[in-house]
Amino acid sequence: MINWRWAVVLSILVSATCLGAEPNLRKVNVDIQDTGAQKRGFKIYMEYCKGCHSAKFMRYERIATDLSIDPEEMRSQYINDSSSLHDSIRSTAPSDSLSKLFGAAPPDLSLWARYRGEDWLYSYLTGFYFDSERSFSYNNKVLHNVNMPWVLNYQQTHETPKIFGERIRDLTSFMVYMAEPIRSYRESMGQYVLLFLALLLIPVYLLKQSYWREISQ
Ligand code: HEC
Repeated sequence: MINWRWAVVLSILVSATCLGAEPNLRKVNVDIQDTGAQKRGFKIYMEYCKGCHSAKFMRYERIATDLSIDPEEMRSQYINDSSSLHDSIRSTAPSDSLSKLFGAAPPDLSLWARYRGEDWLYSYLTGFYFDSERSFSYNNKVLHNVNMPWVLNYQQTHETPKIFGERIRDLTSFMVYMAEPIRSYRESMGQYVLLFLALLLIPVYLLKQSYWREISQ
């Protein structure tokens, strides 16, 4: 028979796990090597997010190098204010006036993908819905009573869910890249290191065989 003390401990553990779990997040599985997706996401960020959200740890120059964007193309197609290539991404509107307007300050998003995780971001950005009970008539499934305006309302309500999902996947890919620009290099280096260690195993094994042969003689 199960000891009643164990039953209590088990039920506390189960309820603690359930309480800590995120609401049903949608899986996005971004490919960190896919610079095409990151580039498209960067374009969306510049057109729809930069107005309110800075990304002060990210310089245009670095993005141009990592995502293979020609400096001239960067200036003419992406940077839509007076910033130069050496500048970091600054929001267009001052954050204190925005926080008065929306009741919360839009955060700097440089490292947000590391803070929330890619699935959370994807679920948040695809999670806006109409809610007649709120004064602005919309809400969000993962950030309840959200203060951010539903900026991609037109896209979400006019595009097919597949196309809109791909667009948000690109945007999430860019935010994941921005939160750790060195990650794709680090992961590809990791593969070489593992290969090197595997190859090193052969001479080390042969050396061990040779030493033991001498010892056992
Ligand atoms: C008009 C201003 C405005 C624009 C444009 C805007 N946001 Fe926001 N955003 C906000 C505000 C205000 C908040 C704070 C929301 C809150 O705390 O409820 C916010 C919060 C966020 C958060 C943090 C949510 C959290 O608590 O973790 C993320 C992520 C975010 N925005 C992403 C985006 C992305 C991506 C875009 C572009 C598609 C965008 N925002 C465009 C105003 C804006």
